[in-house]
Amino acid sequence: MCGIVGYVGNRRAAPILLEGLKRLEYRGYDSAGVAVLNDGISIVRKKGRVSALKEAEGMGGTIGIGHTRWATHGAPSEQNAHPHLYGRFAVVHNGIIENYLALKEECLHRGETFSSETDSEVIAHLLNYSYRGDVLAALRETTARLKGSFALAVLCRDEPDRLFLAREKSPLVVGRGEDGTYAASDVPAIAEKCDKIYSLSDGELAVLDRKEIKFFDRVGTIEKRELAIDRSADIPQLCGFSHYMRKEMEEIPAAIANSLIDFATDFRFSAFCEVLCQTKYMDIVACGTAYHSGIAAKHAVEKLARVPVSVHIASEYRYGDPIVKPATLVLAVSQSGETADTLAAAELAKSRGAYVAAVTNAPYSSLTRIADFVLETGAGREIAVAATKSFNAQLAILYSIAVASARAKGKDVLFDSLRPLPALAEQVVSKIGDAEALSADLVRARSVYFIGRGADYCAALEGSLKLKEISYLPSEGYPAGELKHGTLALIERGTPVVAVVTQRATAEKTMNAVSEVCARGASVLLVSSFPELARRKEIAHFIPIPKCEECFSPILSVIPLQALAYFTSLARGNDPDKPRNLAKSVTVE
Ligand code: M6R
Repeated sequence: MCGIVGYVGNRRAAPILLEGLKRLEYRGYDSAGVAVLNDGISIVRKKGRVSALKEAEGMGGTIGIGHTRWATHGAPSEQNAHPHLYGRFAVVHNGIIENYLALKEECLHRGETFSSETDSEVIAHLLNYSYRGDVLAALRETTARLKGSFALAVLCRDEPDRLFLAREKSPLVVGRGEDGTYAASDVPAIAEKCDKIYSLSDGELAVLDRKEIKFFDRVGTIEKRELAIDRSADIPQLCGFSHYMRKEMEEIPAAIANSLIDFATDFRFSAFCEVLCQTKYMDIVACGTAYHSGIAAKHAVEKLARVPVSVHIASEYRYGDPIVKPATLVLAVSQSGETADTLAAAELAKSRGAYVAAVTNAPYSSLTRIADFVLETGAGREIAVAATKSFNAQLAILYSIAVASARAKGKDVLFDSLRPLPALAEQVVSKIGDAEALSADLVRARSVYFIGRGADYCAALEGSLKLKEISYLPSEGYPAGELKHGTLALIERGTPVVAVVTQRATAEKTMNAVSEVCARGASVLLVSSFPELARRKEIAHFIPIPKCEECFSPILSVIPLQALAYFTSLARGNDPDKPRNLAKSVTVE
């Protein structure tokens, strides 16, 4: 949430900052701003997207900071946009300062005045107050007083050649290029410019000048290891697609193929396999779409390995005093590896004795530093806020774990059952366009319901989340058998119901629910691997999907649901890549 960029070098800072901010816009797009130091600090801030910052393009100066905001404290407005300027200091901040009210009170008591409603502005005030000619010392003193999470980039009027940074629980990377040094919340903002990249850890600070980057902790200087970057993967490109979400759905088969792991033959994971042999319980902690991956994994692991799995919403787990039994393996699933609640849940599980494995799409993320094992999904960078290919990639790894876990328990389950999935996904993806006509039914709906049982319920949950996230239609994913205990009351003439049926044992049971909603006037779209069901009179529309091992079916059945959400979003005039109020990386609580 919120994107930060910084630059100091030989070129004009403003164009570099604006370009970096465009690449970080998936982190928040309520408002944006830049500050440049050139005989004093000049600032341009605007409500809305980075494109609103046109007048910043001409700013002079070769050192500056920029920000794209996802509002936490204070409405999206020009006044609340970053950078915040107070005295000699301009600051951009990603995170939440939990004790800002007490700190603000102290500043007000000194007679200082505030120009925004944000928690962040207090940082500029504290810096100005602590400053006695040494910015690094002031930054150390200030950050020591902050509670919560922050990534900070700071300009000081007295330091025309140096940029100051600090990190606590919010991501921050820095890099060195030919023309200067760069800072950002995420690699894509600076990948093109830098040959060497470093990632700050909690409690670390950095000082950038035109050539050098120096790293510090709370007491002295430190050395850091540089990270390799894959430029082609780190610079997002639309490649002729109208939206990243559309492009990312096309990439699903490759994401699955790159994420399947045959643990029996891949010796990079032998230590992990030893832990699987000892594992008696699995807990999965995650948020949003990744939580739905966890639910799908539970079905597969319990069916194939007979290992009990509990799936937890990370924000509940972290404050829930969880019981972590001996021999528990915790899987922390997170595309970004930066979701604040998932990080806290993983840390808590570890502190209570569990092994923690990170299932993540971000190899250098904070989650990888907490985990005992890192299982990297091969989805490639995902830019659209609505997760698509990363979900399928998470399922590919989690199903691989289910197979490995079954084998560790001596069961005759083969990796071969996973091998067909990329080709089957290819078949489904080739029909994505068919969902466009079907979205017409949804565009004017008051609400939409997704139903299924077992693994199909998991697909229903994810289909519903996708639809509400980018079309803004109220929607619910519901276990088909539970409808008649309340939710059936919401079905009226014309209500769209999407039913997912891929499990032979419960197919007819879900079809009973289909009959019940039809009897109340619902219009049913059936997504199923049983083509014979298309002939039932209750079915208004049918989307066939190929058969696979039944407990893996959400990896295929979710694809038409993702497409349905995408086309409905477009038909309602929304931008599917940047849904209102949301951001890709949820680094605050
Ligand atoms: O990066 P993470 O996988 O930890 O993100 C978790 C959720 O914020 C994320 O899946 C969110 O629900 C998606 N925007 C849904 O499309």
